[in-house]
Amino acid sequence: MFLDRIKPLDAILATAQKKSLHRSLGAVQLTLFGIGCIIGTGIFVLTSAGAQKAGPGLMLAFVIAGAVCIVAALCYAEIAAMIPVAGSAYTYSYATMGEFLAWTVGWALVLEYAIAASAVSVGWSGYFTGTILNEFFGFSLPAWLSAGPLALGGAEGGLINLPALVIALLVTWLLMIGTTESARVNAVLVAIKITALTAFIGLTLTSAYFDPDKFNPFLPAGIFGGFGSGIGAVGAAATIFFAYVGFDAVSTAAEETKNPQRNVPIGLVGSLLICTIFYILVAAGAVGTIGGQPIMGPNGIPFPAGSEELARQCAMPEYAGQLVCSNEALAHVLRQIGFSGVGNMLGIAAFLALPSVILILLFGQTRIFFVMARDGLLPEKLAAVHPKWKTPYIVTAITGVVVAIAAAFLPVGALADIANAGTLYAFFMVAIAVMLLRSREPNRERPFRVPGLIIVGPLTIAGCLFLFFNLPFDAMIVLPVWTAIGAVFYFAYGRGRSHLGRGIVEVVDDVAGHETMLPIDEPKN
Ligand code: ALA
Repeated sequence: MFLDRIKPLDAILATAQKKSLHRSLGAVQLTLFGIGCIIGTGIFVLTSAGAQKAGPGLMLAFVIAGAVCIVAALCYAEIAAMIPVAGSAYTYSYATMGEFLAWTVGWALVLEYAIAASAVSVGWSGYFTGTILNEFFGFSLPAWLSAGPLALGGAEGGLINLPALVIALLVTWLLMIGTTESARVNAVLVAIKITALTAFIGLTLTSAYFDPDKFNPFLPAGIFGGFGSGIGAVGAAATIFFAYVGFDAVSTAAEETKNPQRNVPIGLVGSLLICTIFYILVAAGAVGTIGGQPIMGPNGIPFPAGSEELARQCAMPEYAGQLVCSNEALAHVLRQIGFSGVGNMLGIAAFLALPSVILILLFGQTRIFFVMARDGLLPEKLAAVHPKWKTPYIVTAITGVVVAIAAAFLPVGALADIANAGTLYAFFMVAIAVMLLRSREPNRERPFRVPGLIIVGPLTIAGCLFLFFNLPFDAMIVLPVWTAIGAVFYFAYGRGRSHLGRGIVEVVDDVAGHETMLPIDEPKN
């Protein structure tokens, strides 16, 4: 009942062959695509939350989260090169563990993509209100319009995060009318982000304010804050994991990659390694200049990031300039050390580049819903393609509205933690799928094989569990609750209507003409 209905791999692969996209992507393009998906709110905004959880140990948190992502990326590389079709972890699970578990993965991917899109929208809002409105136009959006009731600053009367709501709806509209990102636009945005981070690193690490003493104590909240506490270096790693989310989008490009054996793993691992190095240096620059010690509660434990108590502390003059209190962490650091102009430029870089991360995440979400609806597990009406725009406009609109509402009312840290819970579940299942396929179908063609899967697979599984159990309890609990709701939906709706269950195994992969969100300029053939 729970492990039945495994979708035949041959049917899935037949679709891939039918599509037979032009193999045009090389290692550099894939790596650039990866960086375009990865760098976003995680580093530009959540650096504050990470410092509140771990202090200078934030650097260690980036290493831990990066290491888990790199082993997961190797698993993605193997399975994506082998099953290069839309639907990502959902499709891989369908082919290995059956419909019900695939459904739970697809359902969890809502957290990864939709909730992550909400988190990036809130992150964008911080830079929009701080840099664009405040610094350039000298206009302060009233507190009730610039933060949700539970967001940082909520203690001062946040009600709705209007900019986050608007950007999420705007990006949804762009997707509905068929906007995709070209390679050129992606390359420009990656260049903008890399330039901004490089300037940040260069200016902070060479600044007269840089003082090694600021790293002392390095682990003010310890390494392990305790199960469900969300603090300490590992608690920060579980949150800052968000900064790496999105690399799996590269795996959707496997089918359009030249020499995928070599280029898919280079693209996945390369983009992650580059981002990890940037992140560690950015954390060092931020902490080394303005300090990154958490604001401690009366019991010597950091106030929870994003909490009302912390917001109240941050409203006090003695804490106002602290890294952990800023909504636009990196621009704030530069302003504090006398580089207001560069800080504002960095703010503009975030303002320009973050919407493209929202676009990629929302796109991923709608395509997963699309594939699930085409499998009969969601109402097929959702998958209706607009006659003119050629996009699944209904599912896009519904997803966008939900993303916008979540962005309007929830704090960025909580959204990121919830997205992480869903993502960790998906990574966990992908690692299992890769190992299952190796033992069940050892002779099937694999354009890329994870070296030492016997170690890398279990390491991925252990790493995902480890980070998951170090998320704050509130975020952790969302996953089982969400899965239970999904299970009810599956048994009440999907199981009886499933195409596979009804004996229809034709696999329709994606929207004609909009197969993947790849930054490709060349026409596909
Ligand atoms: N990794 C992406 C970000 O940090 C989702 O915004």
